[in-house]
Amino acid sequence: MCKSPLHPFLVKLPKCEHHIHLEGALTPQLVFHLASKNAIPLPKLPHYQNPEALAARYEAFDSLDDFLNIHYANMSVLITEDDFYELAWSYFCAAHADGVHHAEVFFDPQSHTSRGIPIASVIKGYSRALARAESELGVTSRLIMCFLRHLPVPSAHATFDSATGFIQDGTIHGVGLDSSEVGFPPELFTDVFRKAKDAGLHRTAHGGEEGDVSYITGALDSLEVDRIDHGIRLIEDREVMKAIAAKGTLLTICPLSNVYLRTAKSVASLPLREFLEARVQFSLNSDDPAYFGGGILNNYCAVEEAFGFSLDEWKTIAIAAVQGSWISEARKSALVQKIEHVVSQFT
Ligand code: HPA
Ligand code: ZN
Repeated sequence: MCKSPLHPFLVKLPKCEHHIHLEGALTPQLVFHLASKNAIPLPKLPHYQNPEALAARYEAFDSLDDFLNIHYANMSVLITEDDFYELAWSYFCAAHADGVHHAEVFFDPQSHTSRGIPIASVIKGYSRALARAESELGVTSRLIMCFLRHLPVPSAHATFDSATGFIQDGTIHGVGLDSSEVGFPPELFTDVFRKAKDAGLHRTAHGGEEGDVSYITGALDSLEVDRIDHGIRLIEDREVMKAIAAKGTLLTICPLSNVYLRTAKSVASLPLREFLEARVQFSLNSDDPAYFGGGILNNYCAVEEAFGFSLDEWKTIAIAAVQGSWISEARKSALVQKIEHVVSQFT
């Protein structure tokens, strides 16, 4: 609950989330529960004594890689199709409570296949949760398969090829690129992204989180992405910023993540006003809600407390999130109508 008078409005405002790693919804409680169920030993480190100690460790990340090391270690508890289902379902329940109507969710198959988990267990578990979210909660969704950029490029190709059946039947809607950014430029992945384009998939990539603007332009030019995940360092190049605004490319910004991983000093220091003024399209997202201070609503609240946006500015942000979604025009119109209705209730 934030201190802003707009809190009740922010709760009700219909939201689209585009930047959420399902593995990043693995809470300390679920880590310990699944470790015990699957008899997986957790690292012999002080912060693995109990869920509270693990949660306390998350307050001290000093970089993206510091977080990723713990994030990947925690994933070792995910073994069965049901584990992936339970994880994704817990995300959708929390997102629904936060006012999410549409979610485009990332997953990292290589984090699991590298441990001997079949990719089908991962995708079937997740897609069962997506189907239930739509039928029971009315939350529509898309599944985005990410490649880990710190792993060798042939591993990304092998992952893409092993998912062919799920690409052809529409279970996987897009591809993304995540993990350690600096030193792993997007251009490395040009060929696998071309295969994804040829297969009719949407494309997005993390860029401009820790890396400079060349990671954003590289993703746009070489990977032909529709979106940039994070992209906050776009503010460092006004010419590229103008070009991205003109093109309408959506940035999927994760305010609390940026503060937890020290890519921004504070939410208030993020260039959100500059982006709004320059008509750069962006959405606000949770990234890894189990690690970075909670879900999408906490991110909306943190932004409101830092910027004090007006109802009109929030309407612009919420509509940009709809327009940047990979959904039909009919679904977009329905979501825009819901947003207009809520805005009118609070005007
Ligand atoms: N950046 C890169 N990779 C990630 C992130 C992130 O913020 N979260 C989970 N994987
Ligand atoms: Zn991310």
